[in-house]
Amino acid sequence: MIVLGIETSCDETAAAVVQRDGEARGAILANIVLSQTADHAAFGGVVPEIAARAHVEALDSIIAAALEAAGLGFADLDGVAATAGPGLIGGLIIGLSTAKAIAAAAGKPLVAVNHLEAHALTARLTDGLSFPYLLLLVSGGHTQIVKVAGVGDYRRWGSTIDDALGEAFDKTAKLLGLPYPGGPAVERAARGGDPTRFALPRPMVGRPGFDFSFSGLKTAVRHAAEDAAPLAERDVADLCAGFEAAVADVVADRVGRALTRFSGEEPGTRPALVVAGGVAANAALRARLGYVAAGAGARLVVPPPALCTDNGAMVAWAGAERLALGLADRSDAPARARWPLDAGAAPKLGHGRLGAKA
Ligand code: KG4
Ligand code: ZN
Repeated sequence: MIVLGIETSCDETAAAVVQRDGEARGAILANIVLSQTADHAAFGGVVPEIAARAHVEALDSIIAAALEAAGLGFADLDGVAATAGPGLIGGLIIGLSTAKAIAAAAGKPLVAVNHLEAHALTARLTDGLSFPYLLLLVSGGHTQIVKVAGVGDYRRWGSTIDDALGEAFDKTAKLLGLPYPGGPAVERAARGGDPTRFALPRPMVGRPGFDFSFSGLKTAVRHAAEDAAPLAERDVADLCAGFEAAVADVVADRVGRALTRFSGEEPGTRPALVVAGGVAANAALRARLGYVAAGAGARLVVPPPALCTDNGAMVAWAGAERLALGLADRSDAPARARWPLDAGAAPKLGHGRLGAKA
């Protein structure tokens, strides 16, 4: 089964072609990602209108480039998948409308993919993982611990009650005068820093449940930075190292607890912990999660960075997984700014008329 996947939910315009065989193994035939980071850098974050405009301008040629790289035409496809939510609505409408047009013109089934599901299923594409497994999704917009029990069967055990982890990295970078996106900048600055110099809090550590909180940590970094001002390079390095160490402690605590629960629910199987989202690129966090997984007798699976951050291959793969189960969507499938992965889990923030924001 060969599927075209389109991703436009945030600031990457991406298209990919993925093949899935009957044993649920995958091959990426093409994967093209155009990042808009430079368009948004001056604003210190993603500007929705700029993102939507950039998607309109780039998407057609990105899709053409993906098909050319795969050596295929529309007629060779078995389906067309696009991210339908959650995300920035302008970009979502552009990607989904394009997918609908291609599907209608070529007479192929359409799959309206949940972006979080695409992240959740990536480890099956890259590592052939079988269900169930535990997912830590840490990106600029999401911070969740999810039990992935099957295609379409997700239980959210915990999520952030305020900032997403990537957002906390980005805000910390901004207040320390580091460039956007903040994650890589904080990680670079932290090298050689002293993580023990500033006493920073570890929000939620030791609490029952699996939720996260990062806004208090970010505020503590701001206060420490104000006290130490004017900041020399050494101060910034120590603050970044302290922030990273606090984040690692918090994530290790939450994930450690989740692995214990997972083992209780799935006795006799070796648990697998999958880490996805842009923050999975953080080496200190990955190393720490390696220890946590080893301590729990679990296997740690971290897809390569290019497949952890937003991309079209994960969307194509999620589309292929759904099509394999006969789960195509109608041509009136809506784009959805909000679309929780686990509809049964209570929203933690942004609980409006349309449901959970994150
Ligand atoms: O998954 P992603 O590319 O986009 C979405 O948010 O959906 O994640 C981007 C986030 C940003 O907040 C960025 O600062 C963070 O991932 N990030 C990192 C690192 N690389 C990217 N955070 C910490 N350390 C990194 N090396
Ligand atoms: Zn994402």
